[in-house]
Amino acid sequence: TSAYNIAVIPGDGIGKEIMPHVQAVLEKATQGLVHFNYETFDLGAERYLRDGSTLPDDELERIKTKDAILLGAVGDPRIKAGIIERGLLLKLRFALDQYINLRPSKLYDGVKSPLANPGNIDFVVVREGTEGLYVGAGGAIRRGTPHEVATEVSINTAFGVERVVRYAFALAMKRRKHVTLVHKKNVLTNAGDMWQRIVDAVAKEFPEVTTDYQHVDAATIFIVTDPSRFDVILTDNLFGDILTDEAGAVVGGVGYSASANINASNEYPSMFEPIHGSAPDIAGKGIANPTAAILSTALMLRHLGIDAPADRIEVAVEADIKESATAQRFTAEVGADILARL
Ligand code: NAD
Ligand code: IPM
Ligand code: MN
Repeated sequence: TSAYNIAVIPGDGIGKEIMPHVQAVLEKATQGLVHFNYETFDLGAERYLRDGSTLPDDELERIKTKDAILLGAVGDPRIKAGIIERGLLLKLRFALDQYINLRPSKLYDGVKSPLANPGNIDFVVVREGTEGLYVGAGGAIRRGTPHEVATEVSINTAFGVERVVRYAFALAMKRRKHVTLVHKKNVLTNAGDMWQRIVDAVAKEFPEVTTDYQHVDAATIFIVTDPSRFDVILTDNLFGDILTDEAGAVVGGVGYSASANINASNEYPSMFEPIHGSAPDIAGKGIANPTAAILSTALMLRHLGIDAPADRIEVAVEADIKESATAQRFTAEVGADILARL
């Protein structure tokens, strides 16, 4: 049996509640095949409130030595928005150069979509993970005065765009061979134009892949009115964040939406987490759906090249959803039901 070192960051709110079920499923699915050495990191709101740290350098360095990272969710209403999100989650994505944020959306058999005619929803959003409005370029001056100025600058580099564009086309080759670039090039004429030119250039190398383009505002319409038209949606960091919550909603809720933050050059560990947050509105009630986080472990296994257990987890989750998705279940019940199918 081969061994892998995994950093576990349960985080805050429902992240803490789902992580034990995630690890239990991962353990059972890989039993006898793979050995995981887990190191759990005490990072998130409690740690910050205790000693003011979000991600100390020595812990980041330790995380860098791991094969992969499992993260629950972070964010806490007691702490000013952005401190944990930027200081921990985005710091990890940036420091580990996780430039591909892969977010599949699939309407599973048995889940009730809020759409009357959802059709066959099965698309993947390839969201750029290290650039755009997320880099933190900009600042505030004259803060608190009537003349306050606040800027956030969107950084888009040809290097950063090209690598995510190539990834999207390569992924499309393994799927239905269609890439939709989503941007706002009618207004964001600098970045939008660069994204489109790079897509056009890379598309020439993938003659079997068809491409189209949608402005992000229109894309939000089609995700609701005609989601089956999408195969691979390629977009920037902020648009991808927004579109994937919407996509989560149309496939029955973000409780089913897995994600992977991938350093595709494999220089650093990749990170696997659900797309949802710490859900303070339901935290502590034991009702969070652990499915998205469990499906994220299947993405981790595939990234590590451990395909058979990934298949097992996906099959177990699909069967569980088919039988029980409409039932009201506690987190622990969903975890136990999925575990029992493995
Ligand atoms: P959220 O995703 O936490 O919650 C949005 C809604 O979805 C809430 O009604 C919540 O109850 C519901 N929901 C989320 N996950 C669920 C699950 N597994 N099962 C059932 N229902 C679920 O988004 P928010 O409320 O905007 O953010 C809360 C906090 O989480 C903030 O601090 C935010 O910054 C943070 N956040 C963190 C991550 C992350 O760690 N990756 C992602 C998104 C938001
Ligand atoms: C997500 C979250 C994060 C993002 C926040 C918490 C920084 O919303 O993973 O979707 O915007 O990427
Ligand atoms: Mn988000």
